[in-house]
Amino acid sequence: MIHLEIQGSRIPALGFGTFRLTGDTCRRQVLRALETGYRHIDTARVYDNEADVGTALKESGVERTEIFLTSKVWLDDLEPEPLARSVEKSLRQLKTDYLDLCLIHWPSDRFPLDATLEALEAQRSAGRIRHLGVSNFPPAYLRRACDLAPVFTNQVEYHPLLGQEKLLELCRAQGVLLTAYSPLGQGAVLKEPVLDEIGRKHGKTAAQVALRWLVRQDRVAAIPRSSSEENLRANFAIFDFDLDAEDLEQIARLPKNLRRVNPAFAPDWEDDR
Ligand SMILES: NC(=O)c1ccc[n+]([C@@H]2O[C@H](COP(=O)([O-])OP(=O)(O)OC[C@H]3O[C@@H](n4cnc5c(N)ncnc54)[C@H](OP(=O)(O)O)[C@@H]3O)[C@@H](O)[C@H]2O)c1
Repeated sequence: MIHLEIQGSRIPALGFGTFRLTGDTCRRQVLRALETGYRHIDTARVYDNEADVGTALKESGVERTEIFLTSKVWLDDLEPEPLARSVEKSLRQLKTDYLDLCLIHWPSDRFPLDATLEALEAQRSAGRIRHLGVSNFPPAYLRRACDLAPVFTNQVEYHPLLGQEKLLELCRAQGVLLTAYSPLGQGAVLKEPVLDEIGRKHGKTAAQVALRWLVRQDRVAAIPRSSSEENLRANFAIFDFDLDAEDLEQIARLPKNLRRVNPAFAPDWEDDR
């Protein structure tokens, strides 16, 4: 496992995502992830699975301090009081007394960013969250957030078929982690023949190549999700090989405009004011 050191905390570069996993499937997969060795788990209020994640955390017997746990506050809860209630609900359902990281799930022009970040800071001072961060923030929003608060990460879609050059440059300049969500392009990346070919050379799959490509980058973490035990384990088996210069060149030449997550309320991704 590769670990990253951000704001004095160690975070595993590979985490386990839980979007669309609910109920017993979620509980079972998070438990398997922890048994496999994952120590970084990503959830959100809106995934409606925090209680299942929390049950798996308890059942695993893994010390809470060994796990890096992230949750997120939804768009309707960005004002101070709803935000405080949202964090409280996350903690209750996750059966823990702190989050390692709490993110603003999406930027919103409906509420002033400074007040939301101040409310997250208050949660940090009270010890309910150890770090605060953002998600789906284009460059202009991220710059503003970094001027207002110690942003730990910007969690955005990133994989071999979607470039994030500008955000990466900004994150590195600001000391912010870029957490790659949908690191397999929700499955689309696996159909790319170039990744498949590189994988065959190393005795690995296209999915493993995509994940290895992400976590070998400076200040990048990746959080793949899987509902299958086999895939969850395969995604963890990426630290016993590396990509060579030729592989990296081939991946760099792939088209970089495949965005899988783009809801109507998404910001202008290119916003770089
Ligand atoms: N902040 C945000 O707005 C945001 C948005 C999206 C996602 N996220 C986070 O990022 C996490 C990951 O993103 P995602 O869930 O969108 O998609 P993803 O991890 O890119 O892709 C998941 C899909 O890939 C398949 N898969 C996983 N491992 C595989 C393997 N080794 N071989 C073949 N297929 C494989 C899974 O199928 P099986 O289940 O069959 O394995 C599933 O269909 C989420 O779970 C969530 O925690 C955050």
